[in-house]
Amino acid sequence: MTDKGKVKVGIIGSGFEADIHAESFRLMPEEAEVVAVASPTPGNAEKLAKKYGIPRFFTDYRKMLAEKDIEMVTIAAPNYLHAQMTSDIAAAGKHVVCEKPLCMTLEEADAMIDVCRKKGVLLMYAEELFFTPKYVKAKQMADQGAFGRVYMVKQSEKHFGPHADWFWNVEKSGGGVLMDMGCHGIAFCYWFLGRPKIKTVYCQMGTYVHADKTQGEDNSICILEFENGSVGVIEDSWARRGGMDDCIEVYGEGGVTYADLHMGNAMPTYSEYGYGYAVEKAPTTKGWSYPVFEELWNYGFPQEMHHFARCVRGKDQPQATGEDGRLVQEVLYAGYQSAGTGAKVALPFRPKGIKTPIQLWSKPCS
Ligand SMILES: NC(=O)c1ccc[n+]([C@@H]2O[C@H](COP(=O)([O-])OP(=O)(O)OC[C@H]3O[C@@H](n4cnc5c(N)ncnc54)[C@H](O)[C@@H]3O)[C@@H](O)[C@H]2O)c1
Repeated sequence: MTDKGKVKVGIIGSGFEADIHAESFRLMPEEAEVVAVASPTPGNAEKLAKKYGIPRFFTDYRKMLAEKDIEMVTIAAPNYLHAQMTSDIAAAGKHVVCEKPLCMTLEEADAMIDVCRKKGVLLMYAEELFFTPKYVKAKQMADQGAFGRVYMVKQSEKHFGPHADWFWNVEKSGGGVLMDMGCHGIAFCYWFLGRPKIKTVYCQMGTYVHADKTQGEDNSICILEFENGSVGVIEDSWARRGGMDDCIEVYGEGGVTYADLHMGNAMPTYSEYGYGYAVEKAPTTKGWSYPVFEELWNYGFPQEMHHFARCVRGKDQPQATGEDGRLVQEVLYAGYQSAGTGAKVALPFRPKGIKTPIQLWSKPCS
């Protein structure tokens, strides 16, 4: 492995998020270059490789891991594969960037952290909200005292449901919208407030629109009580029409701020005829729509991947780690347990032998 020059990156997956990883490295090419991609369906890795000029492509990611020059591998595959992939990447001596949510269970989270520590590689947790420019600005203002003592932070992400079948299959995803998008809000509130201990978790959820498709919840509300007296409120939906919405609200005794990545960050547009692309998961561009610009940059994906490459070179300390992912995982367990019992759940909450966090919704542990 070289210790200078651009970090050589391999991507696992060729779907939605793998494309975002490839595009992110293309947008900020100073620190890293993607040299390989692996995806099991014949032709898919090759297609992504051609689109981004990636020289090598594989159908078996283990073959990609045998390539000596690759130093960092990003996992953009379904949730149930994250733990095994992390173990294989670490065993090959390469640094890991794992998409959210970290994995399916707390046992897997522990094993991922352990194996990376033992093999001397970094486990970086791809939570782009830590890099989202508008949200970073809000945190900077809060840290400078703009709002005085912050007593409540809210984050919400909503659309009409994911693009791929595996998200709807709770055996592969681990849960519905709380698992898929609530993981962002949990990480966000925790990070925004400076990582205070979480005391309790309360959740309400239901499957209001998509019961024909999934056993997962398609709308969830989650309330976190922090040891420092602040509260986090996280609202997520797979049942909201009209494309993607992602926003935060920050309330302090001395001020307030609101930030919106989509509806309020776009050009309110009316078109009788439609046009190319409005925003992620928008079903149509006819009528009223909210076309975004610099979509990946506004999310923080390129900045996130740039930061992870710098961590590999020892230029930055990871700002989103396996430990962050494990904490989120524990809150997800507590969230499903709370929705199942109707009661607040105190942390630490580490029931053993859970296969999917969502099972705690229908069968809470005693
Ligand atoms: N950070 C974000 O905002 C964000 C957004 C979307 C998805 N994600 C996460 O990214 C991950 C992937 O989601 P997606 O939307 O790209 O899903 P997707 O279905 O679009 O793509 C999944 C990819 O994984 C590949 N894959 C499946 N089995 C594999 C295997 N055994 N080996 C190698 N590759 C395999 C598939 O072929 C496909 O290319 C998930 O964990 C998801 O939660 C994160």
